[in-house]
Amino acid sequence: MSKQPISKKKDQVETTGHSWDGIEELNNPMPRWWLWTFYACVVWALAYTVAYPAWPLINGATAGLLGKSTRADVAAEIVRFEEANAGIKQRLVEAELTEISADPELNSYAQNAGAAVFRTWCAQCHGAGAQGAESKYPSLLDDSWLWGGTIEDIHTTISVGIRNEETDEDFVRQGQMTAFGRDELLSEEEIRQAVAFVQKLSGQEHDAALAEAGAVVFEDNCSSCHMEDGTGEQTLGAPNLTDAIWLYGGDAESLYETLWNGRAGNMPARGGAPEGVVDEAMVRAVATYVHSLGGGVASE
Ligand code: HEC
Ligand code: HEC
Repeated sequence: MSKQPISKKKDQVETTGHSWDGIEELNNPMPRWWLWTFYACVVWALAYTVAYPAWPLINGATAGLLGKSTRADVAAEIVRFEEANAGIKQRLVEAELTEISADPELNSYAQNAGAAVFRTWCAQCHGAGAQGAESKYPSLLDDSWLWGGTIEDIHTTISVGIRNEETDEDFVRQGQMTAFGRDELLSEEEIRQAVAFVQKLSGQEHDAALAEAGAVVFEDNCSSCHMEDGTGEQTLGAPNLTDAIWLYGGDAESLYETLWNGRAGNMPARGGAPEGVVDEAMVRAVATYVHSLGGGVASE
């Protein structure tokens, strides 16, 4: 190969007229390959903006000759996905709640979809592992239930929420603890007595004399919801007070606060998800998932 000089000799090229310390700046043209690549890029770019959506207009952008739209692609993808799942979702809605977990295909779909719904709409309150959060949100892993742990109970709780008048048309998740102190139904002394009695019920250390008086206060004011033996009533959402599981705390101070103000914990229907997003099939899916977590109890 013969050696070609990369650029022309100094005297064949114009100079820019700049010179520093005797070094002159030559005005070599851009290499030809570079220039053609550059022109090709310009042509490509212009053609691209004509073929694809590009130029901003007041509303949206030019559509492009090829009619490409990533938004339409996503919409089509969602439709395709929904169509693929329509059959199994329909079966999920039509199945008996108690039979979902026995059908391997339905159960596997419900578990996966339910876990996804849980991560999106439930975890912020109940925790990523459904372990609950101290002093407010119940754990869904244990078999202690405020409103019942059968698949039907759980399904109802999720469908209507808890203490929501708009979504709970049949009034099935409304039970509310009286604010005995704030509403002046009991004196401070009587509340302290009831607190001691609750501590006794749950097997904690307590003041025996206070608890004895508290037994009477309990009988008169509390047993209608929490039952005579304190084991609670799920249709009213009244918790079992004889176990060591507390939603709001079992120490004297927390108990006093519970009795003084009531609590009225609230859960939005479907965890607050819009009905179209978490539809009946998805409510059933997440109910199946929660029921399987370890605390779910068999239906009668
Ligand atoms: C804004 C917070 C919040 C969100 C979101 C939420 N929950 Fe709850 N959930 C609560 C509270 C508070 C309670 C307890 C209410 C009470 O005092 O009875 C509860 C109770 C429950 C119960 C009844 C537990 C029992 O012992 O009977 C179930 C089941 C439940 N939630 C499931 C779910 C599922 C499933 C989702 C998601 C679709 C969800 N929750 C989303 C706050 C929430
Ligand atoms: C009208 C029914 C009703 C009556 C009467 C009632 N409770 Fe309750 N109680 C409830 C409900 C419902 C809850 C759950 C509150 C919530 O989750 O927001 C509750 C919660 C509690 C808790 C909290 C339990 C926990 O896990 O943290 C304690 C303690 C308690 N009640 C004690 C009493 C005592 C003591 C009395 C009588 C002085 C009483 N209750 C009277 C309905 C009642």
